[in-house]
Amino acid sequence: MRRRTAEVRERGFTDHVLVCTNDRDEHACCADAGGRAVHEAVVGWLRDRGVLWSEVYVATTSCLALCSEDGTAVAIHPRGEWYSDVTPADVPELLAREFGPEAGRLGRSGPAVADGG
Ligand code: FES
Repeated sequence: MRRRTAEVRERGFTDHVLVCTNDRDEHACCADAGGRAVHEAVVGWLRDRGVLWSEVYVATTSCLALCSEDGTAVAIHPRGEWYSDVTPADVPELLAREFGPEAGRLGRSGPAVADGG
C-alpha cells in the first residue's frame, strides 16, 4: 500500500465529482436515469474549461443513496455537495453553480450563493 495524498495535492487536485451509474433491477437507479450521459456531460464541461484531471477528478460510482427514476445522483467533494435528479441538460447549470461559469472557483469554497437546497 502506498499513501499518495501529497502527490495528488501537488498535481493540483481540488475537487472530485462523483456520478452514480449504478444499475439494479427492482428499484429506480441512475443507470436507467441517464447516469452515463450525465457523466459524459460532466467530463465535457470540465474538459472545455481545462480543469479535467488537473484540478477536478471525475468518477462513476455505485449507489449514492439518492436514487430516483427522474435523474442521476451527483456528489462533489470535499465541499460536500449532493444533487439528485440530475439530467445531462442540468449539468452546465450545476457545475457553473459549484465551480463558477469558467471553473474559476475550485476547492472547498462551494457555491457562491447558498440557496438552502
Ligand atoms: S442508484 Fe444512483 S443513487 Fe442509488
